Amino acid sequence: MTIQVDNLRVEGTLPAWLRGSLVHAGPAKFEFGDDEFVDWVDGQAMLYRIRIKDNGVCEYTNKWLDTSNHRAHREGGRITVRETCSRPSIPTIWERIAYMFQPPDNENGNLHISQFGGNSRCISMSVGSSLMEFTLEDLGTVGKVNFKDDIADMGPLIFHAEPHVDGATGEWYTCAIQLKISPEDMGLKPEYVVYSIPADTQPEPGAPVYRRLITRVQTEYPSPVHTIGLTDRFFIMIQIPYPLNWDGMLNAEGKWLMTGKYEGNLNDYNTWQPERPTIIRLIDKVTGEQLPVFETFPFFFFHVINTWEEKGGADGTQDCVFIDVVCYEEPPVGFPLRQARSGDVEDWRGGGGEVKRFCLNLATGESTCSGWPDNCFDEPKINPKVSGQRQRFSYGVIDDNGMLRITKQDHETHEVVKWGTQDVSRELPWQPVFVPMPYSDKEDAGVLLSWVRDQPTGDSFCVVLDAETFEEHARIHFPEGHHLPLHGHGHWMQGQI
Ligand SMILES: [Fe+2]
Repeated sequence: MTIQVDNLRVEGTLPAWLRGSLVHAGPAKFEFGDDEFVDWVDGQAMLYRIRIKDNGVCEYTNKWLDTSNHRAHREGGRITVRETCSRPSIPTIWERIAYMFQPPDNENGNLHISQFGGNSRCISMSVGSSLMEFTLEDLGTVGKVNFKDDIADMGPLIFHAEPHVDGATGEWYTCAIQLKISPEDMGLKPEYVVYSIPADTQPEPGAPVYRRLITRVQTEYPSPVHTIGLTDRFFIMIQIPYPLNWDGMLNAEGKWLMTGKYEGNLNDYNTWQPERPTIIRLIDKVTGEQLPVFETFPFFFFHVINTWEEKGGADGTQDCVFIDVVCYEEPPVGFPLRQARSGDVEDWRGGGGEVKRFCLNLATGESTCSGWPDNCFDEPKINPKVSGQRQRFSYGVIDDNGMLRITKQDHETHEVVKWGTQDVSRELPWQPVFVPMPYSDKEDAGVLLSWVRDQPTGDSFCVVLDAETFEEHARIHFPEGHHLPLHGHGHWMQGQI
């Protein structure tokens, strides 16, 4: 259901400096007619915004992202076009064969919100979606970002990483996998494409965008990259041994072609191959030059916490790059929709991994790793002011005896502080967003915003936690009966209302 509310009920007091917009995207519709998507990531994108105005009044709006995919499903009354995992229901094999030759629109930006062009333009994107532009003012959909370069001429870009904006330059970075067909043998030659959008891109919504190609990385076994790291010099990409599984995809596609049933999901698109190492690539942000790769033990990850450069090594004078990342020993459970609906939602959310710190010594080419045992954590956020520098604190959620808790982690002392006034018997939080306090360089000066569901009633609120003390400032209540499905990573836009 989409609604607009001018005055949400606020319990407590909001900081006077907390003025701006919190925007989330998330999958919100999973059936059309008798058809149901096979994977959570296929759910149709909804945009959500809380706007905290000058007088502290909180407005709320949610709106469907207006995509060609959603329009086609709705008008057809069934799944009519392909999504990242789901395939359309088409009755005859001949029609299915004909459909195979129609290029997909891939319009369903349902996970990541970001801004480029000096924070002037808003986009919503997802693992399998094109980059979809919308306007902050009314959450109106502009359409696919109007790219005018030739980066995608040789094939579509899929599995985009969550974008990262360089705090110093305002440049917007990501990487994706391009499915290229080799003209020599017509074989599939996928490669990573690392690119940016310069900060001085035209600010008008819908204006042409020219990406800067940083480099292309050829690899025999591309693995989707969910998050990246940026330091002063480097774009950092971690390639885990979880490559795309062409056989699995082709088998699922072939079965759909023959029977009309498609049973793949995001997990089937990759194969866990722990006999391979994890490869960490450091790429010069300006020149695209790639350093010799670092190889380390196999692990799985979704989220880089932070990356930075510092002197280190045996005598403390060698150039090193540090990476804090949430590691899993193997891929956790994914997002199959039926499992998500029938199973325990906390289990489905992935549980948590162990925070590990890698030190890559540029002088010796060696990498070392230190862990944080007994830490079960994920969905990290840090103060964006320390992005690219050594952070002391990170924030996220932990699996605390089966309960999800918002936490603050101290990377120096390994102390973990939990949101103390959470009623764990009913309140289910999700990834907090860190909002730094203006005019302060103190790393934990700011607030965390997390959307919390009261499970017995289904009602939701946004908790505003003091990031230093973990005391509650306020709860901003969504209207009673308004359902907020699990959503992706949120984005705060300070002062933008
Ligand atoms: Fe994520």
